[in-house]
Amino acid sequence: MTDEHQYLLDNARAAAGDRFAALAAIFDPPTFRRIDALGVTAGWRCWEVGAGGASVPRRLGERVGPGGRVLATDIDVSWAREAAGGVVEVRRHDIARDEPPGEEFDLVHARLVLLHVADRDRALRSMVAALRPGGWLFVEDADPALQPLSSPDEHGPKERLANRIRTGFRAMLAERGADLAYGRRIPRLLREAGLAEVAAEAYFPIASRHCDLLEAATIAHIRDGLVAAGHATEEEVARHLANIAAGGMDLATSPMVSAWGRRPW
Ligand SMILES: C[S@@+](CC[C@H](N)C(=O)[O-])C[C@H]1O[C@@H](n2cnc3c(N)ncnc32)[C@H](O)[C@@H]1O
Repeated sequence: MTDEHQYLLDNARAAAGDRFAALAAIFDPPTFRRIDALGVTAGWRCWEVGAGGASVPRRLGERVGPGGRVLATDIDVSWAREAAGGVVEVRRHDIARDEPPGEEFDLVHARLVLLHVADRDRALRSMVAALRPGGWLFVEDADPALQPLSSPDEHGPKERLANRIRTGFRAMLAERGADLAYGRRIPRLLREAGLAEVAAEAYFPIASRHCDLLEAATIAHIRDGLVAAGHATEEEVARHLANIAAGGMDLATSPMVSAWGRRPW
């Protein structure tokens, strides 16, 4: 369940670039508020797991400066490689199958990755093993079961269609082995992994143009699968995309649970 063929939203498709841009616009602000609160600064060594696009590795590189290091890994580095250079190294790596990099990090971070990884327990162990004593593990992941709607204010046919299509998307994720309630489990899993000072919070926008862009890019990515599985017809998918483009739908994302803890000294 861990190779790139089983990751539903594989990076190979053109829509992946639009998805990464929307994810960065929506989630980089809360991610970096926490990264700053954890004290990431000049000289830190960071491992960005499942980097996706270039935004997080690049911003981490700015935080750690010339004396620091950022290793950005993914099973498909087509988009992350734009961040390579200076203190940022980009490398292909499967968090569930490959050995950890063999060095210690001050920060290991993964956002919206482990939910998709079938052997997510092994992935988490690998990430914990790569921490220096006192280093922080920062895991952020969606919990689609906590807030399953695309349009929380389901007041008309457009919103009902959006929610029906979101239900189909969740079914497709679950068929690929995604854990749709993973976000809420992360604090407990960090404590069980022996980490200290564990805490967590959750964030999701309701109504933002970046949510519209994310929804449009995601639907473009999975439209053939939605139709093939009978979750929606071609005409319904096209209508949903036209509704998004027309605006005013107040589309939300799943909540993203951000949890952190540190390896004891
Ligand atoms: C939803 S995207 C999130 C990307 C980025 N972390 C962000 O928040 O914008 C999930 C990313 O995880 C990567 N991924 C999936 N399975 C993986 C694995 N087993 N090992 C490493 N990366 C993986 C995908 O290729 C993709 O880039």
